[in-house]
Amino acid sequence: MKKQSERQRNAARGESSGTRPLHGPLDFIAEDHMREREVCALIDRIVASASMEQADLDHVLTFLEAVLPQHLADEEIDLFPLMLKRCAPEDEIEKVIDRLQSDHGHALADAPAIAAIIQGIGASPSKPSQSDCALLSDFAHHARRHLILENAVILPIARARLTKKDLRLMERHMLERRGLSSPLGE
Ligand SMILES: [Fe+2]
Ligand SMILES: [Fe+2]
Repeated sequence: MKKQSERQRNAARGESSGTRPLHGPLDFIAEDHMREREVCALIDRIVASASMEQADLDHVLTFLEAVLPQHLADEEIDLFPLMLKRCAPEDEIEKVIDRLQSDHGHALADAPAIAAIIQGIGASPSKPSQSDCALLSDFAHHARRHLILENAVILPIARARLTKKDLRLMERHMLERRGLSSPLGE
């Protein structure tokens, strides 16, 4: 648990993957998407029965239990409502957001079962059952499809449409959600 809380604190501070500094809430969301891609790749390795470090399993658990719920809240409580407010009808954003919110419901409902499977791997040398592997694969598949839509459609439109005031409000809420006071990424 100690390792998990350390990683949780680091992720909450918005530690970048190291290639560039973060600037504001939309960069932070993009960085969370990169974290999610890494987690999907780790889940693929579990399904392929690759040997895993305990730290990698802890990383997946921390993402599922701490990072993902905050990320979904960032999008549902701040990003999506601001986009609905700022986007023009020709952006046709409502249907996309409906679809993304439905994905979030499934991800939140499935995450505890996925975490339980991964905790089971830590406690036993046996690989997950075939049905557990199917659940893991399905979770990673849906997460990747969701990420493609958000990275290709949502974030570019958000960068174009949200105002500086919107971004400041969003950043303040994201900091409050994580119990932080300094700007994201610092
Ligand atoms: Fe997202
Ligand atoms: Fe999302």
